[in-house]
Parts: sequence; structure tokens; C-alpha cells
Amino acid sequence: MQSSAFLLVASLLAALPVNADGIYTKKSPVLQVNQKNYGSLIANSNHTSIVEFYAPWCGHCQNLKPAYEKAAQNLDGLAKVAAVNCDDDDNKGLCGQMGVQGFPTLKIVVPSKKPGKPRVEDYKGARSAKAIVEAVVDHIPNHVKRATDKDLDKWLGQNEERPKAILFTEKGTTGALMRALAIDFLGAIDFAQVRNKETASVEKFDVSEFPTLVLAPAGDGENKVYDGELKKKPISEFLSQFAAPNPDAALASASASAKSKPKPKPKPSAKPTSIADDADDIKPTASADSSDAPDSKPAQVPIAAPPIATLATPESLESACLAPKSGTCVLVLLPEPSEPDSALPSLATDALASLAEIAHKHAERGAHIFPMYAVPAINTGSQTLRNGLGLAASQTVEVVALNSRRGWWRHYSNDADFGTVAVEAWVDAIRLGEGAKHKLPDGIFVEAEAEAEAKPKSEEHDEL
Ligand SMILES: *[C@@H]1O[C@H](CO)[C@@H](O)[C@H](O)[C@H]1NC(C)=O
Repeated sequence: MQSSAFLLVASLLAALPVNADGIYTKKSPVLQVNQKNYGSLIANSNHTSIVEFYAPWCGHCQNLKPAYEKAAQNLDGLAKVAAVNCDDDDNKGLCGQMGVQGFPTLKIVVPSKKPGKPRVEDYKGARSAKAIVEAVVDHIPNHVKRATDKDLDKWLGQNEERPKAILFTEKGTTGALMRALAIDFLGAIDFAQVRNKETASVEKFDVSEFPTLVLAPAGDGENKVYDGELKKKPISEFLSQFAAPNPDAALASASASAKSKPKPKPKPSAKPTSIADDADDIKPTASADSSDAPDSKPAQVPIAAPPIATLATPESLESACLAPKSGTCVLVLLPEPSEPDSALPSLATDALASLAEIAHKHAERGAHIFPMYAVPAINTGSQTLRNGLGLAASQTVEVVALNSRRGWWRHYSNDADFGTVAVEAWVDAIRLGEGAKHKLPDGIFVEAEAEAEAKPKSEEHDEL
């Protein structure tokens, strides 16, 4: 019992560190960006990026991590998948500037015609690798000309000083890989795509197979047919013989950036990107989603709201809220984890986050608000309280307010929604003395002699 209780406390503490390092390790395929390099890596890039603004203590951010890393692997070389730790003081300015109001906030940054002035959109889709990859791929600009028999010659005659890369294909749309290559070589090599039905062009270039990538050098040189693997790296190397790629070409590959660490090996299931697949080339396989957090609904915890304190022992619960003279307390009775190390269910993290935000808002305004505490299931006082109040056994999250001095308690009964708006409405009702109150049953608060032994209030809380 003792040791499993210890494990629970340890995992609870691990879930709520305040000033921890970022949640992505050095080996992560996610590009870690800070306020100093945001401009050069993201805002001034010709590539599309998705940027996660997060705080290490945020449960939804931790839940997102596996899906986000998977998305980064699948988008390697096509777009940047980046993260900014907003808990780091050095990044607070950037996070504020970007209008970040909760964690995680995901934004897709799309380069515009004006360098350094990208278009920034909130990503509000599902928090799965598949959904993220699809949304980002949709935002990769297309600099590949779709040429026909009618206009191919005219296009070939433009920008004479630049080599031309022409993809002959059966597809009508332009895949992410071609778009990413065109971005890498923007201003250096012009890209076009010609369909197989443009027979005059197909004959002119003597193409008999699809897809075929042909490079027409600037000037009078002979055309070169690419015959390597239809993957980004070898194609890039081939094209680099004719013109140098732009500075941020290498950085489109997050794992190759800044740190010259080897890339994580893509799982065999991670489908390689290939021009053969054209528009459909970035369909992550089903397995890409299997480990995604089941909770993919967008949910956020507030920025800069420190977590509410935890009452880890029956004694601390008693002295904080159950002494005869205790005033109003709000308690989050946390559910018993299904397994020793499992993360809190999202309803519980929502409840904690909502109360943290409400407490934080009041503190910022210098307004009084009653104390709010998390009570983990290992605190045996939690079970006693549940029994006494007739609440469900230990599998649910329960939010209650109680006032020993006045002898009432209230139950937050909207047990499907612990979002800030709903919880705040309930808290406001308590402050105004509105809403349903129940009489506190006998035996809930500690008797006088027990209180005499209890240490003075507030010194005992486990402030996390
Ligand atoms: C973006 O593209 C332009 C050409 O349009 C190029 O000159 C510039 O170097 C590219 N920027 C980066 C950061 O690679």
C-alpha cells in the first residue's frame, strides 16, 4: 500500500511540474523553436510550418506529444513541425505576440508574398497525426506550374537563366513532395507538371513512363532524366547539381535542423514520400493514428495559471477544509487511476485546469476567491468524503464546494463538461450565494479534539 501510494504521488507530481524543461527531447523530430530563432526558422521561411505553443505542465500538451511527433516524422522534408515552450521566460514575449491564450495552441504559418509576413491560422482540427498532417499539407504553397501543350513552350522560355524541372505524371494535382521541392529551389529552379494526356509535350520530351522527372538545364545543355528513387533527398541531390537550393531547404527537415543529430528512423509503417504517389503521397497509414491520444477534442488549459494546490493527506484536507471553522473550499476529488501510472482522464485535467484558470484570474485582479484544491484518490480522506456526501465511488472526478462553518456543501453536477465556462458559472453562483446547497451531513468535518491536534492551517498543503 505504502509503495503504491508513493508511486501515485510520484506520478501525480510528475504530471504537474511547474518549471520543467520542454516536453520534447533533443532527439525529437519536432523542431524546437524559441523567440530568438522564430523569425529565421518560421516567419521568414518559404516553407509552411505548424507551431505548437505549449507549457510543459499542461496535460493536453503531453497527450498531444506522440501524435505531434508522428506528424513531424510524416511531414519531414515537406513542412516544419515546431514547438515553442511558453513556460520559458525567454519565449513569453513571442507567445503573447502570437495571441496564445491557452495550451496547447497550434498555429499553421503559411509564407506569403511578403517575406517575414506569413499568414497565421489557428489549427483547430483533431489532435491526431493524420489530421495535423493533412491540414499542414493543404497549406503547402504550390509553386509548380501546371503546363499544357498550349503553354509549355512559353513557360520554358521564361526566366531563361533558370533550369526547369518538369514532372510528367498521370495525376492532375500536385503532390506535397513536388510542392516542397519547388519551395526549396524557389527562384533557382522553376517547376512544372505536365499530364500524360498532353501528348505533344510528352513526345517532345520523349517520355514513355509516368511519372518521369526531367531537368532542362538553363541554356543549351541536354535534358536530364532523373532515374533515382522517387524520394525527396535523392531528388534534391540531383537537382542541386543544376542550382543551389535556398538556405532554408535543409531546415524543412526538422530533425536535420540546428542539432546535427541523426534522424529518428521512420517506422516501416511510415509511408515514404514519393512523387509516384503525387497528390496522395502524404496519407499517413492507419498506424499513424493508433497511438494518438483518444482525447482529440481541442481543449486547452489557461496560459500562466499555476496548478491548484494538492491536499495529499487526510490531515491536510481536514485542516484546510474540514475543520469546524473552515470557510468555503472548492475540492476536485480526483479519480483513482485505472493503472498505477496512467495519466489523469481528460475530465479530471479539464477540471484542474478550469479551476486553476479561475483562481489565477481572480489572483490577477487581486480579487478574493475561496481556496481550491486537488485531492488525489490516494488521500484516504477523499474516499471518506465521497462516502459521507453520497458521491460516486472513486472512479469519477467530482468537484464540490463545502463550508464547514456554515454547514453546507454543493456539488458540481455537470459531469460531462468541466470546461472553464461551465465551472466558472458554478463558482460564480457560489460567490453570489445562488444555486442548490445541501446540508453538510454529520461526521464530515473533524471534531473539536481532532482539530486541536491538527497543525495550524495552510502550512500543510502540498503546494506543487
Ligand atoms: C525564399 O525564396 C527566395 C526566392 O523567392 C530566396 O531568395 C530566399 O533565399 C528563400 N528564403 C529562404 C529562407 O530560404
